[in-house]
Amino acid sequence: MATETITEQEHLTQIRHYLHQHPELSDQEFATTKYLTEKLRELGYRIITPAGLKTGVIAEIGTGKPVIGLRSDIDALPIQEATGLDYASANTGVMHACGHDFHMTALLGAAEKLAAEQLTGTVRVVFQPAEETHVGAQEVTDAGGVDGLDAIIGFHNKPDLPAGTIGLLAGGLMAAVDQFTVTFHGVGTHAAMPQLGADPVVALAATVGAVQSIVSRNQDPQQAVVVSVTHIEGGSTWNVLPETAWFEGTVRTFDQKARALAQKRFIEIVNGQAAAYGVEAEINWQTGPDVVDNDPRLTKIVAAESRQHFNVVAPTPSSAGEDFAYFSQRIPSVFAFIGSHGNSDWHHADLIIDDAGLVPAVQWYYFNAKRLLSELA
Ligand code: NI
Repeated sequence: MATETITEQEHLTQIRHYLHQHPELSDQEFATTKYLTEKLRELGYRIITPAGLKTGVIAEIGTGKPVIGLRSDIDALPIQEATGLDYASANTGVMHACGHDFHMTALLGAAEKLAAEQLTGTVRVVFQPAEETHVGAQEVTDAGGVDGLDAIIGFHNKPDLPAGTIGLLAGGLMAAVDQFTVTFHGVGTHAAMPQLGADPVVALAATVGAVQSIVSRNQDPQQAVVVSVTHIEGGSTWNVLPETAWFEGTVRTFDQKARALAQKRFIEIVNGQAAAYGVEAEINWQTGPDVVDNDPRLTKIVAAESRQHFNVVAPTPSSAGEDFAYFSQRIPSVFAFIGSHGNSDWHHADLIIDDAGLVPAVQWYYFNAKRLLSELA
């Protein structure tokens, strides 16, 4: 019987299609964790997942310093897949619509290459859970999963870049994410007699417009800032002014000063509008992931290595958030974009990404892991 040999591309494609077919939601990645753990064990990795982590895998190979972390996220989204692919999701209502299957495959592929080498130092692979809910990196950090790392690198696939093109820049690559909810408490009354109440709907309508002045009048025009009100609720019928009206939304920034200023002005404007319309404002501000902030020195090293193998471009920063920021606030780190040549964008039910990006993504981890081991020795 002839021995069938498959190319690296075919091998990686098989892994990705398997993972794509079996997506799991954030913090419920039990089968994915089992699959990754078995693969890493077979490759000779020491599994060092802290007891505090329910899902996700952390494993090491090599010994001594430096210790270089390579990170991939592993979770999928609550989206019903609409690609029609023969390897489409087998789990109803769950889809790898952000390409974390691509990230896992790339890191497994790099883990395999690194396992075949004599390393000077240690490589730690960090397969983290729950990126989509922005809690996984913190769970890993709290459990001690990134303790002792000298550097950590990771990437997100980018459907609008050609397969294998690398996007790199020092500083803010992905935005800090804040979330707000506001309830205006007024006095309900008959719609025909507004003078007897205090109308929270008019206050809300004025406020939705007013908070846009945070971007246009308060921030430095050179700073990218987004304020979006995404959801409003109030009232129940046509002839009654309600007692309360509510809205929520998000603020995206790339700089600590811009972030603090946005929050300060938001609270001032909302309270000011409430006073102007004679209602009370109840503001709830939730701080999400920080900006993904690439270390300038490490970025220089990774960019130099990457340019030897790939087309490297300076990408437009993304106002989406990425919880890799929890690592980048604590450990010198570099986060890149790697082209995945998609037909659509992140979080779309019809997103199909190109397996041709896998080999370059494997190589990106592999070459940079080796480069950082020698540079930080
Ligand atoms: Ni993602």
